[in-house]
Amino acid sequence: MTDGRPLILGNWKMHRTPSETTAFLGDLLPRVQGVTGRDIAVAPPYTCLAAAGEALRGSAVSLAAQDVFWEDQGAYTGAISAPMLQDLGVRYVIVGHSERRQHQGETDHTVRLKVQAALRADLVPVVCVGEQETARVSGRADTVVRGQVLRALEETAPGDLRNIVVAYEPIWAIGTGRTATPSDIAGMHAVIRSEIERVFGGPGAAVRVLYGGSVTPATIDVIMAAPGVQGVLVGGASLRAADFARIAAYRVD
Ligand code: 13P
Repeated sequence: MTDGRPLILGNWKMHRTPSETTAFLGDLLPRVQGVTGRDIAVAPPYTCLAAAGEALRGSAVSLAAQDVFWEDQGAYTGAISAPMLQDLGVRYVIVGHSERRQHQGETDHTVRLKVQAALRADLVPVVCVGEQETARVSGRADTVVRGQVLRALEETAPGDLRNIVVAYEPIWAIGTGRTATPSDIAGMHAVIRSEIERVFGGPGAAVRVLYGGSVTPATIDVIMAAPGVQGVLVGGASLRAADFARIAAYRVD
């Protein structure tokens, strides 16, 4: 389903209403119309997915969701399943974002279940991993992230790996304005890649690995030039049409 192109994904988090979504995408779409050679997607809140799907129809920008429940249907009040998202035209779904791990009780176990639920419905899970600042300072960042990757993906069939995206989002870089350095990013991307290939061998090369954490128009070009980076997950800057369009139009010379 994925084609290996870089992915630029905007995570709106808990921002915007449906009418604001329609207006925003009306502003964004002309700005990214000429951008080719990369996949672009936006992840609005659930309540805005229908409006966003309508606004994006016929465009090159894909629809993403911010979470999914692990069962397909049943007595799970308040939950949204992968088939429901699929029917709305959703293509990608963020799974295991650190804000959900922190505030909504997400664990490596629920992340794994959600990855499998997404794959069953032909959605592309975007699995978020990343260490706390304390882990980085104490030299445990690689171990923490390797463990998250392993536990999220261990039940994945090798044939599904081309439909998996992993996003490395160091928690200390999210919403702080402290982007990780290109060498930190390249280093952790190599760790993630080696963990995936240790478990799955050659087919692991099909997994796309993104970076997220204070990505802005000022930092995107150097981030995309870092070895191993195959796209970005953008929070705050994805809420500003001009900034997100500039990020989507990154240049690596
Ligand atoms: P910021 O770009 O606002 O740091 O957020 C990153 C993020 O959490 C994307 O999922």
